[in-house]
Amino acid sequence: MAKKLTKFILPEKDMPTSWYNILPDLPEPLPPILHPQTHEPTILPPPLFPSTLNDQEFSKEHFIEIPDEVLDVYKMYRPTPLIRAYRLEKALGTPAQIFYKYEGVSPAGSHKLNTAIAQAYYNKKAGLKQVSYNQKLYRRIMMETWGAKVVASPSTDTNFGKQVLAEDPNCPGSLGMAISEACEDAFSRDDTSYSLGSVLNHVILHQSIIGLETKKQLEMADVEADIIIGCVGGGSNFGGLAVPFVKDKMKGKKIEIIAVEPTACPSMTKGPLAWDLGDVAGMAPIVMMYTLGHSFIPSPIHAGGLRYHGMSPLVSHLHKLKLIDARAVNQKATFESAIQFARTEGIIPAPEPSHAIKVTIDEALKCKESGQKKVIVLGLSGHGHFDLSAYEQFLSGKLEADAYDEAKVKQALAQLPKIDYVAPK
Ligand SMILES: Cc1ncc(COP(=O)(O)O)c(C=O)c1O
Repeated sequence: MAKKLTKFILPEKDMPTSWYNILPDLPEPLPPILHPQTHEPTILPPPLFPSTLNDQEFSKEHFIEIPDEVLDVYKMYRPTPLIRAYRLEKALGTPAQIFYKYEGVSPAGSHKLNTAIAQAYYNKKAGLKQVSYNQKLYRRIMMETWGAKVVASPSTDTNFGKQVLAEDPNCPGSLGMAISEACEDAFSRDDTSYSLGSVLNHVILHQSIIGLETKKQLEMADVEADIIIGCVGGGSNFGGLAVPFVKDKMKGKKIEIIAVEPTACPSMTKGPLAWDLGDVAGMAPIVMMYTLGHSFIPSPIHAGGLRYHGMSPLVSHLHKLKLIDARAVNQKATFESAIQFARTEGIIPAPEPSHAIKVTIDEALKCKESGQKKVIVLGLSGHGHFDLSAYEQFLSGKLEADAYDEAKVKQALAQLPKIDYVAPK
């Protein structure tokens, strides 16, 4: 009977009440984060972050209780459904079982709220009034509807933004630049904190609710995952989905966990693991991560959320320890996969998770060849309703395949900070 179900809906009463923190379970500790000027180990720079989030960033607790107030807001849209992609399976003619965890049901249309709610809660408790967010431009009107003021980066509101625009008035911006501007703004006011939507450990901690729910839902479906696939920008939706499964893998379970990035910004598949700045201006800490160089500005592909020069230190560390794999796919191929997904499963996916859809389809087709009935779990981090102009371009044949700019990456890698820090043995 369970096999016939399409949607695995976890009852509200079974929603996880704690986030999972993978840090104390790691076989090798994460390298510290370093102060951008002194190059010495540091905490998240105060006053940018409230102390609760700083504690979570380095916590040794295996589970951290989700505050009741946060759980109440989560219940507006959580638990999110796990859906069996029967129609996609049929179209591909694969014996694989494909499930997708759909985060597009949140009011904002993506996974980002899982941490935004938690961060807003902890910041409010700490008495902060203003939080600078960096999110998708297309969500601007929604954010304004909910009462936010949104500034697109690079902006004329900060010295760094002005400097960037003076050098290139048409600069397409990047996540690294937006971080610099947000830090500058937060450093200059007492009532303002900085909220990062990805990259940091505490963000992946908050996103772990995705993976924790998915595990319970796979039990409802009476299956175990063979392959987990998610897209990576700063690494938060992938990290959140993956960490509970990485825990199983560390205990010896055979499971493949694949992070998918764009070929235009392939930090994990092409970049070195190195100390680098988290932002362009050098205000955020220096971290050990796979990087293309903090001054690298990726070409303006439609998956704007994947245009980050580096990768979450935690996701980088999991990759270094060979607990996860990484692949890069081209934007044209991702749109072809997105269209196939929309025409079979109905949901129009955001360009970011369409990268994961492409690899899901590749893996399902491999199963078709081998006859294996693998269980594939795809992280569908958001819908693409704000990305319809990109779909229009694709449908009218105007969307180009993106190119990897090796020369620009080489230039940016030459500007990596020189760090002498060696971890004590
Ligand atoms: C729908 C969606 N998926 C994925 C991402 C990538 O971010 P992350 O790697 O932190 O999940 C974004 C970022 O904007 C996004 O909007």
